[in-house]
Amino acid sequence: MSLLCLLILALYFQGKFYLEDPSGAVQLNMSKVLRWYEDSVFHVNAFGFPPTEPSSFTRCALASVDFFLSVSRAYYGNINFFGGPSSTAVKASAKLKQLEEENEDAMFVIVSDVWLDRVEVLEKIQTMFSGYSAMPPTCFIFCGNFSSAPYGRHQLRTLKGLTSRFVFVPGPEDPGPGTVLPRPPLAEHITEEFRQRVPFSVFTTNPCRIQYCSQEMVVIREDLVNKMCRNCVRLPSSNLDIPSHFVKTILSQGHVTPLPLYVCPVHWPYDYALRVYPVPDVIVFADKYDPFNVCNTDCLCINPGSFPRSGFSFKVYYPSNRTVEDRYDY
Ligand SMILES: *[C@@H]1O[C@H](CO)[C@@H](O)[C@H](O)[C@H]1NC(C)=O
Ligand SMILES: *[C@@H]1O[C@H](CO)[C@@H](O)[C@H](O)[C@H]1NC(C)=O
Ligand SMILES: *[C@@H]1O[C@H](CO)[C@@H](O)[C@H](O)[C@H]1NC(C)=O
Repeated sequence: MSLLCLLILALYFQGKFYLEDPSGAVQLNMSKVLRWYEDSVFHVNAFGFPPTEPSSFTRCALASVDFFLSVSRAYYGNINFFGGPSSTAVKASAKLKQLEEENEDAMFVIVSDVWLDRVEVLEKIQTMFSGYSAMPPTCFIFCGNFSSAPYGRHQLRTLKGLTSRFVFVPGPEDPGPGTVLPRPPLAEHITEEFRQRVPFSVFTTNPCRIQYCSQEMVVIREDLVNKMCRNCVRLPSSNLDIPSHFVKTILSQGHVTPLPLYVCPVHWPYDYALRVYPVPDVIVFADKYDPFNVCNTDCLCINPGSFPRSGFSFKVYYPSNRTVEDRYDY
């Protein structure tokens, strides 16, 4: 039946699933297999995700659609989906790509749950900074929550000595408005003193996007893995490798929070900030779930885990060879 082709939405209401399209809704029965329509119920045998596609393919596909519409092929193929000031995708720049490959010293240090009011966390951060002082990374990505206490002075002095950039992504319990995503940066009055002392610090939104040379990175601080498991429509029958299923779901849905709005509320006008289509090069899921690295559809998905809760582990990403290293016990 044509319903399958027209399917735009699966709806969950009063314990039942429905398929919905502009012409109406029909109940789903997913307890058995093979699809048939009987007694006004659409019986389902199996269902799956739309296939993921690497961003190189998305760009080619768009280029051919564009050809069809007889608009300039180069214009669509290079359109900037990711955001930022450039009107064309920086991804297409051969020069930046070369720069990225040549700069082998480039690294991103990714730490989540940087609880600045805990002595042991500060001590570990301190150790981390002294370890990196001889060879400062390109960027430190610090995710919240940063807890309630103000930033200490000693901390600031250590930070100031380095030439890295510091990106601060707020967590679910940091000061700010509720739990709706995307979340605005920490308020300026909170970060003012810090920003004066550490000029290369950026207090940004959650999620945020970072363009490094030709690479597109998305960073989100949210405990998504457990939320996704709790709201799973159907648990996979085999291979219970949760991080791989989690990553596949996100990439197939093209959205970082494919969850009902009552589980993960979203500011509608900014929903586009949560989309991950075309697929970026790196997604950092800063989640209290155990750390993982999963590569799917040419996208490297990294969870640094919770710094204080995972024995002070964090991740280092090298853009020159697109590899990630796990760090702990230092
Ligand atoms: C769903 O299908 C199963 C097996 O065919 C059947 O036992 C059950 O009654 C169906 N439920 C509904 C609501 O049609
Ligand atoms: C990737 O590059 C970094 C920095 O040059 C290096 O330390 C690391 O060993 C490389 N990893 C692999 C798998 O080549
Ligand atoms: C935020 O940090 C506090 C400790 O400072 C912790 O108890 C709480 O669980 C954290 N919340 C999240 C969502 O990680």
